[in-house]
Amino acid sequence: MSATLVTNIGELTTLDPDARVLKGAAVVLDRGRIAWIGHPRQAPAVDTVYDAGGRAALPGWVDSHTHLMFAGDRAAEFEARMAGQDYAAGGIGVTMEATRAATDYELTRLLMGRVAEAAAGGTTYLETKTGYGLDVNEEARHARIASTIVDQVTYLGAHLVPPGADAEEYTDLVCGDMLSAVRPYVKWADVFCERGAFTEEQSRRVLGACRDAGLGLRVHGNQLGPGPGVRLAVEFGAASVDHVNYLDDADVEALAGSWSAWDREMGTGEAGTVATCLPACDLSTRQPLADGRRLLDAGVEIALASNCNPGTSYTSSMAFCVSTAVLQMRLSLTEALQAATMGGALALGVQDHVGSIEVGKRADLQLLNAPSAAHLAYRPGMPLTGAVWRAGQRVDRTAVGSAPLA
Ligand code: NIG
Repeated sequence: MSATLVTNIGELTTLDPDARVLKGAAVVLDRGRIAWIGHPRQAPAVDTVYDAGGRAALPGWVDSHTHLMFAGDRAAEFEARMAGQDYAAGGIGVTMEATRAATDYELTRLLMGRVAEAAAGGTTYLETKTGYGLDVNEEARHARIASTIVDQVTYLGAHLVPPGADAEEYTDLVCGDMLSAVRPYVKWADVFCERGAFTEEQSRRVLGACRDAGLGLRVHGNQLGPGPGVRLAVEFGAASVDHVNYLDDADVEALAGSWSAWDREMGTGEAGTVATCLPACDLSTRQPLADGRRLLDAGVEIALASNCNPGTSYTSSMAFCVSTAVLQMRLSLTEALQAATMGGALALGVQDHVGSIEVGKRADLQLLNAPSAAHLAYRPGMPLTGAVWRAGQRVDRTAVGSAPLA
């Protein structure tokens, strides 16, 4: 791979530990890494030059929470919700049926199409979950396919007790044969700890078994109402608890306590449990927006993620999440950008590799068709993503139109 100089960058938001924002900067991408950052006149010799024409550049988005391994569509459920119906976990069963019916080839094409769509929007690092298989063979099949396409895979056998199954017996399966079958393909395990999904006791069993199997932990918690999810996540040392819409003082204290040995300025020390906010999901389910402001003020590290899935958040637009966080969650632009890049990296344990523009890190960056990153919130909903590089390779944004629909 040849070295590329991206030059004439109007504003370079590095999100490095010094939060440097450089004007009139240039970056060299070499063998998949950031090799050099500085003034264009001092740039080393390269093979290829890309003139950014004064555009703003920032790290690629790190989307730490998606459910992209699915077939089918739940637009009718969405319309019913907009007409006043509440979201219920049971809708997952509809997607389970459609996903089980899809062949390996169909699932591979669907997932690749969705990853291409996310990359075209500036997402360069992505996690996805299983959770629409819900039996041993299907969960393993989905994990296997996902592991060949996305950066990180999370086992979410504990997404829903499938229709007709006994909750206790199903939880045993999630902790036993199903876990063994998915284990070669996944790094993380997750549990939907919520009414209508898994109780505190069942969630404990899942988290304990998956921890014993060597998986990192994540929790879907406090999405539809107050509950034990956040505190369980902290107790088990989970890397992230996601949704966090309904928090009481004890939840916030527990999360803040998990970050007591962390140096936020330097981004070093012992990481705690990231609170991952999913604003597109909150809007699509008409839940109160997660209180990212309160969490940040309490000293909790937060991430912003798309939660792209067919039930509660059918968008992979991280730019939409960033603009919503600024316009409605009262985050500053820098806080929102940080949460959508380094926050996601922290939630996935890859903060030393991606999430900021620093020499040595993976060459993941995006240009905006705008002179400054502020335009992401200033011009919400506009197609501002310009060129995108992932591991130093230009992302082919034309691949999107060929993706199958459902
Ligand atoms: O994160 N909350 C649980 N899981 C997904 C929704 C999945 C679905 O409804 O299909 C979420 O919102």
